[in-house]
Amino acid sequence: MDRLWTNARLATMAGDGLGIVEDGVVACRDGRIAYAGARAERPADAAEIVDCAGRWITPGLIDCHTHLIHAGDRAGEWAMRLEGASYEEIARAGGGILSTMRATRAASEAELVETALFRLDALLAEGVTTIEVKSGYGLTVEDELKMLRAARGLGETRAVRVSPTLLGAHALPPEYAGRADDYVDLVCDAMIPAAGNLADAVDAFCEGIGFSPAQIDRVLAAAKATGMPVKLHAEQLSALGGASLAAGHGALSADHLEYAGEADVRAMSAAGTVAVLLPGAFYFMRETKLPPVELLRAHHVPIAIATDCNPGTSPTTSLLLMLNMAATLFRLTVSEALRGVTVNAARALGLADEIGTLEPGKACDLALWDIGDPAELVYRIGFNPLHMRVKDGRCC
Ligand code: NIG
Ligand code: FE
Repeated sequence: MDRLWTNARLATMAGDGLGIVEDGVVACRDGRIAYAGARAERPADAAEIVDCAGRWITPGLIDCHTHLIHAGDRAGEWAMRLEGASYEEIARAGGGILSTMRATRAASEAELVETALFRLDALLAEGVTTIEVKSGYGLTVEDELKMLRAARGLGETRAVRVSPTLLGAHALPPEYAGRADDYVDLVCDAMIPAAGNLADAVDAFCEGIGFSPAQIDRVLAAAKATGMPVKLHAEQLSALGGASLAAGHGALSADHLEYAGEADVRAMSAAGTVAVLLPGAFYFMRETKLPPVELLRAHHVPIAIATDCNPGTSPTTSLLLMLNMAATLFRLTVSEALRGVTVNAARALGLADEIGTLEPGKACDLALWDIGDPAELVYRIGFNPLHMRVKDGRCC
């Protein structure tokens, strides 16, 4: 073994709950978990032994839905919203996503990496070891590819796994005003083929201020035709049946879901589509319609939690805060919340065989915590008890 973490308490996330092992050991070989379990059966030797002094170890956290790469901010629009303007009014007046689009188009790839690092570093400081990063503020082939390259660049600059997602169908760029179907053609015929090597999945925004179900259907079909997995921003502001549509395409996840109903949940259950809940956007939008958590439970739909870090609806870089909000606002249990940023977040990225639990064969991505009970990770507000982050077996 290369390294053993001993004298630890493990929340492995294997099985149904937290998968707790008191007096546990994690062993790493070649960046992979070789053993995670009770001390009695631990491997005998290792080049290095780390005494965890009774600390808790969880899988490294996974933020499975972010818009981390973008230029500028929208603090001014937030001020307008506090004066009474709505998100949709601002969007229809050319602000919102399009204001971030203008700033992002004007930025170079290097600038996009540079300006995202402070957000990334805040996430890493809370034990995040994998992050999904969407494009969607470029809205030309070149600018979308620039965003995807910048997303990959983050993973070359810091010890973190980055999963880039093409979100070309995020908003209609002004040069296509009145020609939404032509823009959807561009997404399907040019962006998706061009993003093949740069993106792990394709996402879209199914909404009145985004794209219609018929347009989304074309985008998801084009992605599937090139072999790319799909996911969808669905039922965030209204019920358009996007979640069912996504599930019909075998989507990895449907995200937001405040307005999803039973038919959506049934379709997601049948397809194995993960429900990614985004309490930061719910909170910041002062949404009052709760996502259908009881239905998700009843139909055994896996629930993931993410920051949705973006300048318009969720300007947060704290996944730990999202755990608390998922519990307070959406009434998730401790186990549901923590599985939402580990095992189920891995599923939402199609990476369940790679990350998300402490099990042999997976990447040795760990978070070590100065806590007495895993519930503390969900309980505290604005408090970070991370002791150490481990990526591919290396402390960082
Ligand atoms: O996840 N819903 C669409 N996309 C983002 C918002 C993006 C923005 O306002 O810049 C979201 O909420
Ligand atoms: Fe989003």
